[in-house]
Amino acid sequence: MTTLTEAMNIQAIRQHFPAFSYEGNKDLIFCENAGGSFVNKFVLDKHHHYMSNTRVQPYGAYSPSKEAGEAMDASYNAFAAMHGVSREEIMFGPSTSMNTYIVAQALAKDLSSGDELIVTNQDHEANGGAWRRLAEHGIEIKEWLVNPEDGVLDTKALLPLITDKTKVICFPHCSNLVGAANDVKAIVQNIRAKKADVKIIVDGVAWAPHVHLDFVDLDIDAYMYSLYKTYGPHLGLLYVKKSWLETLSHQGHFFNEAKGVGYKLTPAGPHHNDIACASGVVDYYQAVAKENGIATGDIKSDCAAMFAKVEEQETLLMGVLLDSLAQKDNVKVYGGLENNRANRAPTIGFSSSAQSSTEISAALRAEKIGCSSGHFYAYRLCEAIGLDTNDGVVRISLLHYNTIDEAKRIAKTLDEVLT
Ligand SMILES: Cc1ncc(COP(=O)(O)O)c(C=O)c1O
Repeated sequence: MTTLTEAMNIQAIRQHFPAFSYEGNKDLIFCENAGGSFVNKFVLDKHHHYMSNTRVQPYGAYSPSKEAGEAMDASYNAFAAMHGVSREEIMFGPSTSMNTYIVAQALAKDLSSGDELIVTNQDHEANGGAWRRLAEHGIEIKEWLVNPEDGVLDTKALLPLITDKTKVICFPHCSNLVGAANDVKAIVQNIRAKKADVKIIVDGVAWAPHVHLDFVDLDIDAYMYSLYKTYGPHLGLLYVKKSWLETLSHQGHFFNEAKGVGYKLTPAGPHHNDIACASGVVDYYQAVAKENGIATGDIKSDCAAMFAKVEEQETLLMGVLLDSLAQKDNVKVYGGLENNRANRAPTIGFSSSAQSSTEISAALRAEKIGCSSGHFYAYRLCEAIGLDTNDGVVRISLLHYNTIDEAKRIAKTLDEVLT
């Protein structure tokens, strides 16, 4: 067996996450990251400072209030810089599910009966249910279906669904259940070649923890992900292209409409303290870039450089698990077995014909491997790949802060647990 070396200094990385030295987590291999990552210390320190010292109504003209508003602005600006867009195109909602719900409320007003909207059965229900309910307003919902063999989407199946009436297409950047990633840029090019004015909404919750996202380069109209999966607070980040945002129905208080497009899709007062600490996510990315000698001080290029390293590390981790699972007779791995980070995340969903997923995940947890099993709210995908939704897949989801030794220990435990 070849000796593998970590692509990053993982011990230095882990210094940024207090959860790794918490006594209660001792000996745990945390591999339920697709459900929510550990939180980095930049975020925690900013949250502590905000809550301790400046938790008042922000954006006022007196001292703590002004500082509170500045902390929130720093987050809008940091994520706008990271994703290459303007500040007013970045919004923070309570979660991605709430963000899709709010955008769907706007679409209910903006679309007309007979208009068509395309969804997939690969998505987490957050990027499905809200759009499907638009059928109640006379919108026709069409489904882009996965290959039932592996849960993967093929663009060839999407294109015939697009007609003159197609107004919106919603699909995931990556599956949270089987880890298969979609080539968003190529899919968008194909869609636009067939119908230029379709609005394209992408759920990147399962992909954002693994890559640097340039929203302009992707050429999408809206993109969502959840910051509690990217080392930060429990918030949903929503990007909507300004030209679309300007025409979308206002969802906030009527008297706030004149304040600007940033108020359109945040009907309530946003979560001030969570927004104030969210820039700590970007601080973390820049700190890692610096520690690896690849920082320039520019947010976007530092994040891109940091995630290039992440890709190397995650390819190593994913390889260990995929190689091990490929050798198991009774096991089926969904989302593809190829160790190629362009096509998949280290979120590995599998099932066995000899044991239930519930049984396997319990056996892994007994060995302090923190994973879980089920449909993970990708209920329709679970059904599509022929699994009992009560049992679902065993999901092992890793991030760059996992070590090669951990991946090997998971593989060894799988050798013992799987029959
Ligand atoms: C791919 C994907 N989309 C959407 C969501 C929903 O995100 P939130 O919990 O922020 O509503 C999740 C949550 O697990 C997810 O994995």
